[in-house]
Amino acid sequence: MRRSIRSLLVATATAALVVPLCGVTAANASPPGFSNADKDALRNQAPADLAIGSAVWGRQQLMSYDPKAPTEYQQVLGAQFSSLTPENDMKWDALRPAPDVYDFESADALVAYAKANHQEVRGHTLLWHSQNPAWVTEASRTWTCDEARTVLEDHIRTVVGHFKGEIYEWDVANEIFQDTWDNGGVKLRTEANPFLKACADDPVGLLADAFQWAHEADPEAVLFLNDYNAEGVNAKTDAYYALSQELLDRGAPLGGFGAQAHLSLQYGFDTSLQENFERFAALGLKVAITEADVRIPLLEGETGPTAEQVATQSDRYDALLEACLNVDACSSFTVWGFPDANSWVPDVFPGEGWATPFEDDFTPKPAFDAMLESLTEATPGTSPRR
Ligand code: G3I
Repeated sequence: MRRSIRSLLVATATAALVVPLCGVTAANASPPGFSNADKDALRNQAPADLAIGSAVWGRQQLMSYDPKAPTEYQQVLGAQFSSLTPENDMKWDALRPAPDVYDFESADALVAYAKANHQEVRGHTLLWHSQNPAWVTEASRTWTCDEARTVLEDHIRTVVGHFKGEIYEWDVANEIFQDTWDNGGVKLRTEANPFLKACADDPVGLLADAFQWAHEADPEAVLFLNDYNAEGVNAKTDAYYALSQELLDRGAPLGGFGAQAHLSLQYGFDTSLQENFERFAALGLKVAITEADVRIPLLEGETGPTAEQVATQSDRYDALLEACLNVDACSSFTVWGFPDANSWVPDVFPGEGWATPFEDDFTPKPAFDAMLESLTEATPGTSPRR
C-alpha cells in the first residue's frame, strides 16, 4: 500500500485518539509545544512515520550552538530535518582516543542540539574497517578473537549505553562486505576489518554478538546493517540478504538494512532499489536510505553543473525518496550532509562535487524541490506539521 493512503488512515486514526500515546511519537511527529509551520520544510511535509535526516559533523558545526543565536547552517539544519546522523562524532576515532578513554564531547553536543530542535538521532557506527584509532590498528595486529571480542563488547555496551534512549536507529555494522571488484569478491571483510579479521573463523558469530550487545544496552534502538553500493538487487545485497536471514535464524536482534545511496551521475540509477527494499522488509526488517548524495562530474573548466546534470541529480534524489515512500518499512531517509562545502565528495572524488541538496549559500537545489513535492504528495490533506 502506498504510504500516502496509509498515512492518511494513520492521521485519521490518530486524530481519534482521546489521549495522545504518552511518550510514543511517530518517527517524525513533533512533540507537543514544538511549532515549525514552514510548509517548505522537508520535515514538515514528511509522513509521520518517516524521519527525514541529514548527516552533521558535530565537532565542526554544533559545539558552540546557542539556541538564541544559531548560525544559518544550524537554522536550516533544525528547520528542515527531523533526524541527525553524526558524520564522524560517534566513530571509533572520535570516541576512543585511547584504549581506556571515551570522549563523548562532540557526540553529546550533537545529541543536545537534536533535543533542542526536536530531532531524533541515528547512531553511526559501532563496527567498521575505517576511522579506527591508531591503537586499535596496532593492537589488532596480535589480537586473538577473544581479545577482539572483549574490546568490541566494551565499546558497544559503553557507547550504546551512554546514549540509551537517545538513538532510534544504530548502524551497528558498517560496510562489512567487500565489493565484486575487491580481491576475493563479495565476502565479509575479514582482512580490512580488524574485528572480523581476529574472528575470521566465525565472523557471523561475532556479528550476532555485536547486535546482541547493542540490544542489551538499548532495547529500543533499531539495529541496522549499512553499506554503499547496496541500493539495488546485486551480488552485494544478495550477500546481505543471506546474512540477514542467518543472523535472524540465530536469534540476533537485527532490525534494519540501510542503503547509503552515495550516487554519481557517472553511473546509471539502479531501478531495483524498491524491489531490494521489499525483500528485506519481507524479513520483518526496517529499511532506510542512510547517506544519500548524488555527485556530479564537473566538466573540464566548469565550476558548476550543466542544466541537464542538475535535472538528473534532482531525478535521482527523488527516485531514492520515492522508493522509500513506496515501502512502508522505510523508516528514515537521510542525506549525507549539506551544503556542498561540507561534503566529503570533492576530497575523495576529484573532479566531482555539487552533491548535496543545498548550494553553499543554502539555496535549495531542484533536488530539494523535487523531494519536498514528493513528500507533500505522499501526505495529502495534512497541513504542515506543527
Ligand atoms: O579529525 C581530523 C582533524 O583533526 C584534521 O584536522 C582533519 C584534516 O583534514 O582531518 C580530520 O579527519 C577527517 C575525518 O573525516 C573527521 O573525523 C579525515 O581527514 C577525513 O578523511 C574523514 O572523512 C570522513 C570519511 O567518512 C572517512 O572515511 C567523512 O567526513 C565522512 O563523510 C565519511 O563518511 C562515510 C560514512 O561514515 C560511511 N559511508 C561512507 C561515507 C563516505 O566515505
